[in-house]
Amino acid sequence: MTPWPVPDEKAARDAGIAKAVAHLATGRLVVIPTETVYGLAADATHGTAVAGIYQAKGRPAFNPLISHVASLEMAQRQGLFNTDAERLARAFWPGPLTLVLPKAHTATVADLTTAGLDTVALRFPDSAITCAIIAQFGRPIAAPSANRSGRISPTTAEAAATELGDRVAMIVDGGPCRVGLESTIVACTGETPVLLRPGGVSREAIEALLGRPLVRVGQDVGGNETGKPVAPGMLASHYAPDAAVRLNVTDIRDGEALLAFGPDLPAGADGAVATRNLSPDGDLVEAAANLFSFLRALDTADCTTIAVAPIPHSGLGEAINDRLARAAAARG
Ligand code: TXA
Ligand code: MG
Repeated sequence: MTPWPVPDEKAARDAGIAKAVAHLATGRLVVIPTETVYGLAADATHGTAVAGIYQAKGRPAFNPLISHVASLEMAQRQGLFNTDAERLARAFWPGPLTLVLPKAHTATVADLTTAGLDTVALRFPDSAITCAIIAQFGRPIAAPSANRSGRISPTTAEAAATELGDRVAMIVDGGPCRVGLESTIVACTGETPVLLRPGGVSREAIEALLGRPLVRVGQDVGGNETGKPVAPGMLASHYAPDAAVRLNVTDIRDGEALLAFGPDLPAGADGAVATRNLSPDGDLVEAAANLFSFLRALDTADCTTIAVAPIPHSGLGEAINDRLARAAAARG
């Protein structure tokens, strides 16, 4: 995969943007430049396209992804901005700041994009070419850093091509990333804004704007360590169903709802309170795209337990099983 260079000539540049938009519109993956690091992008509103991101990265777990927008208005359709969030957006967007906000009722991002959470991470990147792609596409694009799982984030199109060149429809070359470090993530979901990840915008700059200190994850409001361990994958608390979750079931018990996979159903499936099949054909990409919305749907059915059929561990199955194991552990 050769990165698509950004030529000076406007017609060629516009043709490249149109091509990237066409790929996104058909659910394909495109590597995009940003001022922080290169991103592996897909339509944030399209669950199967987002599942493709995890598959390409080889990520063994579903972390929620950042949805990239090209205007404050576009962001406001997805997330609920409180006063702090709006001030931060007006001061630092476009730029290396991601805001985690409660999902708006008008939100269109897929459940897999937010990993089933009722919050959404939004960022307006400072890259003219990527913003042109998003604006033309007219929808937010989900993008983690464009590296394979466990490797460092690429800051040039060539590095992104080495990581993922054989797994994407197109690589858009925006030159070397100006910041070279991921965005700062701030959650504005309660009284006090919380710094979830330090990054391209300094804590000092944010505190100066807000006129008060940011709480750091793992600290209390007074800045004292809470002693709770914090790892990157643990920044977001996970969606946990109210119902209990029973895994690898081969038979359905009274009062259970069924989360099936593939053409073969467990014994007693007819008696399930409600049923969703993650993928009747046994396709793990389709299953990943359906996972969070189906868990939610079954959780609102009148069941005591969600019984989950066995799901293979290969490919995206590893991440699906990781997520299901967390859901099962959540209620003990
Ligand atoms: O600079 C960046 O932010 C780059 C470029 C491509 O925009 N993206 C990036 O994405 O670093 P990624 O996936 O490597 O990191 C996203 C982080 C993860 O740590 C994830 O847990 C957190 O954002 N995150 C996303 N949604 C969240 C949510 N609803 N609540 C809490 N954390 C969230
Ligand atoms: Mg990353």
